[in-house]
Amino acid sequence: MLAVIMEILIISTPADLPAFERLLGSGQELGLRFTYAEQPAPEGLAQAFLIGESFIGGDSVALVLGDNIFYGQGFTHMLMEANRRASEEHLATIFGYSVNDAERYGVAELDEQENVIGIKEKPAVPKSNIAVTGVYFYPNQVISIAKSIRPSARGELEITDVNQAFMRAGRLKMNKLSRGFAWLDTGTPDSLSVASHFIETIETRQGLKVACLEEIAFRKGWIDRSQLHRLAQAMQHNAYGKYLLKL
Ligand code: G1P
Repeated sequence: MLAVIMEILIISTPADLPAFERLLGSGQELGLRFTYAEQPAPEGLAQAFLIGESFIGGDSVALVLGDNIFYGQGFTHMLMEANRRASEEHLATIFGYSVNDAERYGVAELDEQENVIGIKEKPAVPKSNIAVTGVYFYPNQVISIAKSIRPSARGELEITDVNQAFMRAGRLKMNKLSRGFAWLDTGTPDSLSVASHFIETIETRQGLKVACLEEIAFRKGWIDRSQLHRLAQAMQHNAYGKYLLKL
């Protein structure tokens, strides 16, 4: 939403997809359009571009992983820039972030000018501490690249292989998220708990919500006051609904 992408394909397992659909609906209430698609087996992130081929059509596209959380000043601008680069300049953009446990991620190798000169998926000995985060912007060519790669040793179509292809073609840009940013992943019970505490701390201190979809849609002008009010009223007895009413 912050990148001004209003058509969103939600991909999940056959078991979980109906729950997401029940929760999020058509998107129309937020001025958005949600479409749903199954990934029958965990065969890799890059499969999203095969599953989503007809959804993407001839457009550029962004991919964001559902277990990644981003929080930081200036992020909206970075996302809009990445989106513009993909559609106007046919360049791919990835975002790097310094972490303590780089071996759990895709890891970028940088030269002295901070150009990406290599990316490895979960290297035993990382060449840097810069992890590749789970938000990616691509020109339409990503579909043909995803079709050309083969499954890795873990049986997945790796997003890292897609990024390597753009890198080799000289069409990959990496934005480094500075230390003032928070990039959290919620893929394990422990990391989910850490992320929850972080968001709770910020929200309690500021009295503002992080990633409140209704608020973003309202501030972007995709829904008007009366629509925001309608959405809020349905939840008026809980803290979330009260926050929307206050807006
Ligand atoms: C995936 C990607 C990896 C990336 C990570 C970010 O890892 O393969 O390159 O750094 O997401 O969350 P996975 O979730 O498959 O372990």
